[in-house]
Amino acid sequence: MIVVSSKSELRQQIKTWKQAGETIAFVPTMGNLHSGHISLVTEAKKHASKIVVSIFVNPMQFNNPDDLTNYPRTLEEDSEQLISEGVDMLFTPTPEIMYPKGLDVQTFVEVPGISDVFCGASRPGHFRGVATIVNKLFNLVTPDVACFGSKDYQQLQVIRLMVEDLSLDIKIVGCDTVRTEQGLAKSSRNGYLTPKELEVAPLLYQTMQQLAQDIRDGIAIEKAVAKATLTMNQSLFTTDYFHVQRADNLSQPTNEDKELVILAAAQLGFARLIDNLVFSR
Ligand code: PAF
Repeated sequence: MIVVSSKSELRQQIKTWKQAGETIAFVPTMGNLHSGHISLVTEAKKHASKIVVSIFVNPMQFNNPDDLTNYPRTLEEDSEQLISEGVDMLFTPTPEIMYPKGLDVQTFVEVPGISDVFCGASRPGHFRGVATIVNKLFNLVTPDVACFGSKDYQQLQVIRLMVEDLSLDIKIVGCDTVRTEQGLAKSSRNGYLTPKELEVAPLLYQTMQQLAQDIRDGIAIEKAVAKATLTMNQSLFTTDYFHVQRADNLSQPTNEDKELVILAAAQLGFARLIDNLVFSR
């Protein structure tokens, strides 16, 4: 696996591959890799001849400085995993490389509307940071395909909209969420959980499943959400939100809309967990 940190080395290698007729699939990450990330690499291999992964803890998408400082950084273990997965190139830039002038004077990309609701309302500026770094990485890697996890459902929508609005010629592939046997979505933030919290954590997915069932059974969305919130708050969780939206564009569903998604965010100890469930009624 080729490991590069500079933009020029990255660009040179991509150019060489493209001249040789190779195609590029890209998996952007913030590292601390788990089986969810590896499933993105596995999917990426189906789409192109060369796989590029980036590891960059992007300061622009953190609205809480402590969260940025404490975010797990495990580059050595991550590299070993990527080598055994047959990844062709790992890009590991520093903040100085990605934001040489500093964050305050950085040009940004903002996808309006969708960036301000749900997780965007709880984490102001978060999706601006995500859209900006993903755009910068796309401009450097110039992939044919890029793979993202569906666990970050809103992020995936933000990226799809950005690609459409900016006419980027990149196919975005959304990959299924990888879960533990008990249903907990794999996330780097699960590492913050104590053993006791880890036992409680699958309740988030179980509650979403019950919420979907209640809506299928004809219970009004508002009432079903109140019940789900109560279930969660009676445990160690503090619910940030449950929203039930149209699955295709996250707008408010009417009674005629059948394909829905539950978006959920909740605090458990030090970890803010997010998850989602797409379902039909
Ligand atoms: O999902 C993530 O890990 C990050 O938000 C991403 C897409 C790598 C951008 O920093």
